[in-house]
Amino acid sequence: MRLRVRPAAAGLRGTLEVPGDKSISHRAALLGAIAEGPSEVSGYLEADDCLRTLGAIQKLGVEVARKGPGHYRIAGVGLAGLQEPDQVLDCGNSGTTARLLLGLLAGQPAWTMLTGDDSLRRRPMARVSAPLRQMGATVVGRADGTKLPLAIRGRRPLASLTYRPPVASAQVKSAVLLAGLWAEGPVVVEEPAASRDHSERMLRQFGARLTAEARRVTLVPGVPLRGTVVQVPGDISSAAFLLVAATLVAGSRLEIRGVSLNPTRTGILDVLDAMGARVERREGPPSIEPAGTLVADGAELRGTTIAGALIPRLIDEVPVLAVAAAVAGGRTEIRDAAELRVKESDRVAALARELGKMGARLEERPDGLLIAGGARLSGARVTSDGDHRVAMALAVAGLVADGETIIEDTACIATSFPEFAETLGRLAPGAVTVEP
Ligand code: S3P
Repeated sequence: MRLRVRPAAAGLRGTLEVPGDKSISHRAALLGAIAEGPSEVSGYLEADDCLRTLGAIQKLGVEVARKGPGHYRIAGVGLAGLQEPDQVLDCGNSGTTARLLLGLLAGQPAWTMLTGDDSLRRRPMARVSAPLRQMGATVVGRADGTKLPLAIRGRRPLASLTYRPPVASAQVKSAVLLAGLWAEGPVVVEEPAASRDHSERMLRQFGARLTAEARRVTLVPGVPLRGTVVQVPGDISSAAFLLVAATLVAGSRLEIRGVSLNPTRTGILDVLDAMGARVERREGPPSIEPAGTLVADGAELRGTTIAGALIPRLIDEVPVLAVAAAVAGGRTEIRDAAELRVKESDRVAALARELGKMGARLEERPDGLLIAGGARLSGARVTSDGDHRVAMALAVAGLVADGETIIEDTACIATSFPEFAETLGRLAPGAVTVEP
């Protein structure tokens, strides 16, 4: 599949909601599966990644009923009710499915086999297999149990653990906390910088005993989880592409409603503010996961520095921020973001190479990018490397480039935002064509 993108001369205009948050959807499926009694989830992201997680819990013996678009009833089986699956769990492209599931499976006294697509089989799993082994799980497989395909056999109870991961990763934190539900004592995760806290919020919502200070989370096992109602807000990581597009194209006005404004995810808004963007935030009523409305107008941007504790708060938004930085006046420096090299693709390399084909000047650094800014982009034939966020970032670049941009290998967009091309085409009529 490929996208053809032309300049959005008249701006992006409209009011919309974006699909459900990917991170929160995965967690709702997993916690719903091991809670006692049914959970009702609405706003669930029906994209390939999150459907993989639903598929996995079904193979572990959990009944899942689709009641309507994004609305699921998950018949939780309790902490002792999962069954050994009689087939390999294929996590597709989804790192969150693989890593969070490994945490959950560490507490199951059964063998489970996991695999994924070409991209996921290249991604590091040692970051979860190491702490789960320390807790007593057996993890075997390729590259000494550090790359998929992997097999895991859990144990009950697991040992308690205080874990200090070398990088801030919500997937690692969540895997250890999930395993902690079957530990003999408290499990503590202390991160070098705060990562997204959806697991903490939702574990508490399901009744787990959990305390969280700035970068230190403690889960005390021994209480059952109770099925509940989860309303998944819109994904700010999907909204980010539209916000940056509206910011870059003069004459735009976009209103995005019901989008997650969890402070561990709003780094993109802070950076856009620092760059001179005009994005207004209107907080909605208080809820477990904060959400609200974002209104974006076109603006001239200036370069900035993105580093340190900000990085985990916008890690998935770097591809689209790189596009903003390429056309902004002045230099942008992105540091402390070596994690970008082990995402669905090596995003540092992919962005430097593909945006370079469009006339942007990006210099690769081991842990980020130096972006010259001030580029006048020109349409080119580019490729996503099979990475959904690179594909969508390139489409945003195409909206402000001269001539036509052809983005190859865009089927991957379905992993997180299946309606992306259609949505962009509606907001900027005539700008996007999808080709098989
Ligand atoms: C996610 C955490 C982040 C993020 C990913 C989703 C999650 O990954 O990049 O898209 O849902 O926990 P890391 O934990 O590897 O930083």
